[in-house]
Formats: sequence, C-alpha cells, structure tokens
Amino acid sequence: MSPFLLTRTLPEDATEAALRADVLKGLTHTPKTLPPKWFYDARGSELFEQITELPEYYPTRAEREILVARSGEIAAATGARTLVELGSGSSEKTRYLLDALTGLHTYVPVDVSESALTQAGHALIAQRPELSVHALIADFTGGLSLPGTPGPRLLAFLGGTIGNLLPVERAAFLASVHALLSPGDALLLGTDLVKDENVLVRAYDDAAGVTAEFNKNVLTVVNRELGADFDPGAFDHVALWDAENEWIEMRLRSRTEQTVKVPALDLAVDFAADEELHTEISAKFRKEGIRAELAAVGLELAHWWTDSEGRFALSLSVVR
Ligand code: AVJ
Repeated sequence: MSPFLLTRTLPEDATEAALRADVLKGLTHTPKTLPPKWFYDARGSELFEQITELPEYYPTRAEREILVARSGEIAAATGARTLVELGSGSSEKTRYLLDALTGLHTYVPVDVSESALTQAGHALIAQRPELSVHALIADFTGGLSLPGTPGPRLLAFLGGTIGNLLPVERAAFLASVHALLSPGDALLLGTDLVKDENVLVRAYDDAAGVTAEFNKNVLTVVNRELGADFDPGAFDHVALWDAENEWIEMRLRSRTEQTVKVPALDLAVDFAADEELHTEISAKFRKEGIRAELAAVGLELAHWWTDSEGRFALSLSVVR
C-alpha cells in the first residue's frame, strides 16, 4: 500500500485572514471588487459542479473531450513520473491523465480545499495502490514549493482557471510555475478560446440561473464569515463580454441605493442604485497570445490541442 501524505502550507486561519484582507480592499476600492476565489465554499463548489453540466457551459465538456483524445500523447510526450495538479478540486478530469501516465510515481494534487484533497486522494489510492499521493493544501497564486519527487514532472493547470487572473497576475503566475520546473519538465495548460460573443455570454448567464446563484453566493460567504448583511436578492447577476480585453466579466449590480454592514471589518459600504460589484474576469485566449505569454517566462509551446469545435485548448509547453 502506497502512502497518502497531506502537507498544509497554509495555516488553519490563513483563509479567514486572506478573506478579511480581500473584502476590505475590494469593497473600499473603486470600482468595488471581490476576488473569484471566494466563490468556492461547499455551496459554491456544488453550484460550480452544476454549472459544468449546463447546456450553455461548454468548457468542461470540451476539455474532457481533449483529455480523452490526447492523454496518450501527453503521456508519451512527457514521460512524467510526477504529476502536479494545481486547483485539483475533485480530480475528476485528471483520471484520464492518470490512467495514461503508466510510469507515474507520485501525484501531487494542490488545492485550498482540504476536504476535496482528502476525498479525491483516498479514492485514487483505492484504485491505484502503487501510486503515492502527496496532497498539498496551498494557494497556487502564492509561492508554492513542491515535494522532492522524481522527474520528469508534468504540472497541470486545467479548466481555464488561468483566465481568472489579470494579465499581470498571469505573467507572475507563469513565472512562478517556470521556477518550480527543471529542464525536461512540462506544463499542461487548459485555456478557453475567443469565440462568438453570444456563445460566451450565454455560458456565463445561463437560462436556468445557476451562474447567477453562483455569483451571488460570494455575498453569502462574506455574510457567514464576516457577519455582513448582504441581501443577495438585492443584486442582479451581470455577465458581459469585454471585447478589448477579450474577457468575460461577471458583476453584481445593486438594484437600489443601499448600505451593507461588515461588522468583522467595522465597515459600512454604500452602494448607489445600479452600482456594480466586480466579481470575476474569465479571459479567453488565442494560440499566438498563449505562445507569447509562455515564451516570455521561458516555456516553449510544444503541442496545441483543441476540441472538435475549436472552443477550448490544451497546450503542452516545455522548459527551455
Ligand atoms: C472555474 C474559473 C474555469 O471562469 O469559466 C464558471 C468559473 N465562473 N462560471 C470559468 C466560472 C462562472 C470558471 N473557472
């Protein structure tokens, strides 16, 4: 039986301190903002799972199609002995990669959610008893350090989550990824692609209203954790396409003039009628843009695979 190790690189109370800092900064900023990482409490994670099954939300299905078709090629191209996955969550789509990587020695799932890591880790070990799993409770946007496992390493960042970062944050993130890797190691990156505006907007404003509920859930998180009195029903869900930046933006628009109290921060926040709280960007990419962003940090694009409809891409890049 192989080991399951869990390493906490975040102190137990780091989450609460980080939330307080983000809410204070975001709600006193113009325009008001809240970072998307706070969507994912238990309810938010469940709503996101529902989003992935919506007819309008294609990225999860498109990425799965690519993984099903290309995991063999990914395994052959990398010969990975260690797979590191950032934002692993339930590790559901990773199954295809794990099955193809026959020479794998260690899987290193990295997530902020201890429950997701423990659940996914134990399920995996039951099926792959010879594989060692070293889970890391960590925020991948902070400085990460990896366990000393055998190379070559493949670092996977799937789902298009890199699109939640602003361009400057993306550059810093990719540089930190490069710093974790050695020559011969590789990055597998999932990116949603620029496409028809209506298709994009519908993916973030579905008919059943699940994405609206997901967006408003961040207010519930702030209410519970910081004692705030947001009324989620007093905000409308907004999803728009920013053609200049080529990203989707999600916002919460205040239906009326209102004041929200955040007791834990000793803060009262005034909203004007129609004022918008910015909650997420989800950037969409083009091949040449990705190639350039990777090259800027010393990663060379080696493979580019899309789903059959050209909506989503997986790229494999290697350390030069
Ligand atoms: C999990 C970050 C990839 O940006 O598409 C889904 C989150 N937001 N619907 C995305 C999300 C609204 C999702 N990512």
